[in-house]
Amino acid sequence: MSESKGQFNSNFGFIMASVGSAVGLGNLWGFPYKMGSNGGFAFLILYLLMLCMVGFTIMLGEFAVGRSTGKAPIEAFRELNSKFLIVGYMAVLAGFGILAFYMTLGAYAMKYFAANFAAIFTHSGIFEATDTAAYFTDFVGNGGQVVLFMAIFCVLNMIIVMGGVAGGIERFTTIAMPALFIMLIIVIIRVLTLDGSGGGLEFMFKPNMEVFKGSGWIGVLGTAGGQMFFSLSLGMGAIITYGSYLSKKESLVKNAFIVPLADTAVALMAGLAVMPACFAFNLEPAGGPGLMFITLQQVFNDMGSAGPIFGFIFYFLVFIAAITSSISVIESSASAIIDARIRKGKSYNRKPIVALVIAIVFCLNLPTSLDALGAGGLPQPLGFCWLDFYDLLAEGILMPLGSLILGIFVGYVMKIDWLKNECESEGQKFSLAGFWTATFKVTAPIGMVFILLGQIDGFFGLGWFS
Ligand code: TRP
Repeated sequence: MSESKGQFNSNFGFIMASVGSAVGLGNLWGFPYKMGSNGGFAFLILYLLMLCMVGFTIMLGEFAVGRSTGKAPIEAFRELNSKFLIVGYMAVLAGFGILAFYMTLGAYAMKYFAANFAAIFTHSGIFEATDTAAYFTDFVGNGGQVVLFMAIFCVLNMIIVMGGVAGGIERFTTIAMPALFIMLIIVIIRVLTLDGSGGGLEFMFKPNMEVFKGSGWIGVLGTAGGQMFFSLSLGMGAIITYGSYLSKKESLVKNAFIVPLADTAVALMAGLAVMPACFAFNLEPAGGPGLMFITLQQVFNDMGSAGPIFGFIFYFLVFIAAITSSISVIESSASAIIDARIRKGKSYNRKPIVALVIAIVFCLNLPTSLDALGAGGLPQPLGFCWLDFYDLLAEGILMPLGSLILGIFVGYVMKIDWLKNECESEGQKFSLAGFWTATFKVTAPIGMVFILLGQIDGFFGLGWFS
């Protein structure tokens, strides 16, 4: 049985789904700390610079590749120019690389919202007397439990994506993303009214030019670029796929600005929630899982009886951020398989294909879930813990390389007239033609090479950028 591949019902739904893909753990645990420790306000300027040189541009390129063909990554490139088929395969592979650890992080978020939720009723503040670092280590070390939560997270993804584009993804994200926004505002208000939260604002926003001394700015620019790139979910097919479901009546140019700006706004809001909370309780700010699951849980413990309520809201928000990102890639992979079947003239049925993708992703996550971030005693590929290993393949190599090629592909192979044509379909305006020409031809390729080198440098600690 075959059905139509589907389309978003509204531009709002498309934006919520795309922003949902972009807003993830990168915004919550990456951005605030990176901004704070890399020059504060000065980092923000460089971040916005990278956004203008690369971010809006690659986003528009992915939207256009998707919408012009109506296809997911692999078949989209086959149709446009089969010499670039490899970029489609790289995108799908990168998607799996990300999902191979993201589901495990989603599982952590679920465990924490469940535990905080339970604490509301037991009034015990289950964590109150406990050392949150030990609690986290114990939990991640309990492979069986992590795998169980990871399996639940996979099943939730499966249910949403099986519902289809409008009936599953759009329906879910148009509720979940506004809810995320409201939850974030609630947490921000609570945090900013805590005594001593001002130190966090200072940490985040105060311009600190020290980090730019000598060649320091190169490292900061690399960090800002890498963060920008990961945060927008570029280079792994999701944005191409969502673009393929957008009506020809909608403006690509407008959406290519709205999505990255909304993503940046959420990243800044996360900074307003997270860093001031650490400072109010005299906790050392950090980034990554340590910030999310150890430091912030400590904040909620220290809040007294309302702590578990805010803990629940916060970790539920983290869970929403994670799942609206993961479904975009599940959809992209499933859609790639569906399109391949359509090309071969075979019938397809969406549900078993989604189930197959989920089964693969579940298996890829088994080592990540059992690895306890490297403490689980599993063999470590190339000396990396499993999470970092998968991340290296995706974020370190495939995603930036794929996006570099995509930028060149649009700018030099398909050419700006093709882009203009797609953007103007059904009477939309292709505004800022000069900007797009300059960015596709010059700044995006240069920026992407820079980001690629920065990623490799970061993963292998080569010191090129310091
Ligand atoms: N944009 C996500 C974030 O900010 C990260 C991300 C990039 C991602 N690609 C993804 C998440 C694919 C899930 C799936 O966290």
